[in-house]
Amino acid sequence: MKRFIKLPQPKTKSNISLEEAINKRHSTRAFSNSPLEIEEISQILWAAYGKNAHGKKTVPSAGATYPFDIYLVVGSVNNLENGVYLYDGANHTLSLIKPGDIRKQLAQASFGQSFVAQAPATVVLVAQFKRTTSFYGKRGERYVYLDAGHIGQNVSLQVETLGLATCMVGAFDDIGVAKILDVQGDVVYIIPVGRP
Ligand SMILES: Cc1cc2nc3c(=O)[nH]c(=O)nc-3n(C[C@H](O)[C@H](O)[C@H](O)COP(=O)(O)O)c2cc1C
Repeated sequence: MKRFIKLPQPKTKSNISLEEAINKRHSTRAFSNSPLEIEEISQILWAAYGKNAHGKKTVPSAGATYPFDIYLVVGSVNNLENGVYLYDGANHTLSLIKPGDIRKQLAQASFGQSFVAQAPATVVLVAQFKRTTSFYGKRGERYVYLDAGHIGQNVSLQVETLGLATCMVGAFDDIGVAKILDVQGDVVYIIPVGRP
C-alpha cells in the first residue's frame, strides 16, 4: 500500500484557451467507466489548491487564511489505490488517509445522486472555519463560501481543458459525508470528475 504519493508536475499551458473552457463548461451527470490518469489528478488538484508562480495558491483567499482541506476520493485512477487522500498543495503530494472504495456510500450520503458513485475521482472541499473566522469573526463565514467558489471554478475549468467532465454537488448530508471520509471539519462542496 502506497500511503504517500508525489504527484507529477502540473502543466501551466494547455491546448485550449481560457475563453474556450469558459464557453464549453457545463454540468455532466454521467461518466464512462474508463479510469483517470494520475497526470489528470495532478492537474485538477493543482488548479484547486496548488502552488502558483507567486509562491501562493492557485486561488485567492480572504486574508490568505486558506480555510480548506482538499480531499480526493479515488475509485478508479490508474496507479492510485482506491481510498480517501488528503492533498498537500505546498508539496503537491497526496497522503492516503483511508483505503477502500467509498464511492457508493458517498453517493448515498449525497441523497442518492448516482453519478457520485460513477465518478472515478471526486474532490471534496472540507472547511476549517476557524482559520478564517478567528481573523474576521462572523463575516469570515461568508469568506469561506466565497473561497469555495474560487476553488470550484478553477476545478471546473481545469476539468474542461482536460476534456473531462464534472458536476458540482452541494446537496449532501454534511455530517454523513464527514463520517464516511473520516475527516474533521465542514464538508462544503463535492466535485466528482470523470470522462464524459
Ligand atoms: C453550489 C452548487 C451546488 C450544486 N449542487 C448540485 C447537486 O447537488 N446536484 C446536481 O446534480 N447539480 C448540482 N449543481 C449543478 C447545477 O445544477 C448546474 O450548475 C446548473 O443546473 C447549471 O447547469 P450547467 O452547470 O450545465 O451550466 C450545483 C451547482 C452549484 C453551483
